[in-house]
Amino acid sequence: MIKYLNNHSDLQAQVSSWRLKGYRIGLVPTMGSLHDGHISLFKLARKHCDKVIVTIYVNPKQFSESEDFDSYPRHKESDLEKLVQSNACDLVFRPTEMYNQTHATRIVSNGAALSLEADSRPHFFSGVSIIVLKLFNQIQPDIAVFGEKDYQQLLVIKELVRDLDIPIHVLAGKTWRDKDGLAMSSRNSYLSKSERQTATNIYRVLQLTRGKIQQGMNVSKAIQDGIKELESAGISQIDYFSLRDPENLKHLIHFQKEARLLIALYVGTTRLLDNIAVPAI
Ligand code: PAF
Repeated sequence: MIKYLNNHSDLQAQVSSWRLKGYRIGLVPTMGSLHDGHISLFKLARKHCDKVIVTIYVNPKQFSESEDFDSYPRHKESDLEKLVQSNACDLVFRPTEMYNQTHATRIVSNGAALSLEADSRPHFFSGVSIIVLKLFNQIQPDIAVFGEKDYQQLLVIKELVRDLDIPIHVLAGKTWRDKDGLAMSSRNSYLSKSERQTATNIYRVLQLTRGKIQQGMNVSKAIQDGIKELESAGISQIDYFSLRDPENLKHLIHFQKEARLLIALYVGTTRLLDNIAVPAI
């Protein structure tokens, strides 16, 4: 039986009672609108823990004024159904409020938080870090699971944990893709049928570019070819397409060891992210 809680003191009472019984607790923070990618994260948490807590909270602090906070998909009933079906969640925490009126603290992350997403969304990592740190403090889980789909976010959270000596083990869940390769994301629901079709080019071009880089093509040339390929598929607004060090996201001009290709672009008005590993061969 899943427990549903929405206030902090009930949450703490439940977590304390599990702790007294010696249970290992896992946390998977989400913003809801759950899909199979999320379910895979809950299942990963389940493998490592006795009790899995899933949080559902659309965090206003990680959206700018011009972004989609109001229209962000919210599907309470179907989320709860998926959580039950997943058989990998013991408690859902859907806080009604997370910030008091006088909330004054910001977290400024450097390291992996510089560039890429931060260039287009300067508010983003500060907003993510504050909500994740609040959830970490409220729940004090043993492990927390984040998806590789948001690769930069994953690294920023790993740095937060490392730098602030937070005693939580961060686990990374693989990106989950639809059959046609599109990485699962709650924002895919914004795409029209034809945009959805166009979006399948993202993974295709990531793979194509990875192949060229691994075969020794100049990195910048391979990426320029990829951009042209996306443009001819109708994708012209590309925020970044870049080869990075998978540990710290430093920009790589040459491919010498394992790397990560990261991309953010618009299909219509929907901004989509994806990334893949580029193993050394
Ligand atoms: O990846 C997300 O869904 C969000 O950024 C997170 C980690 C739940 C914080 O709001």
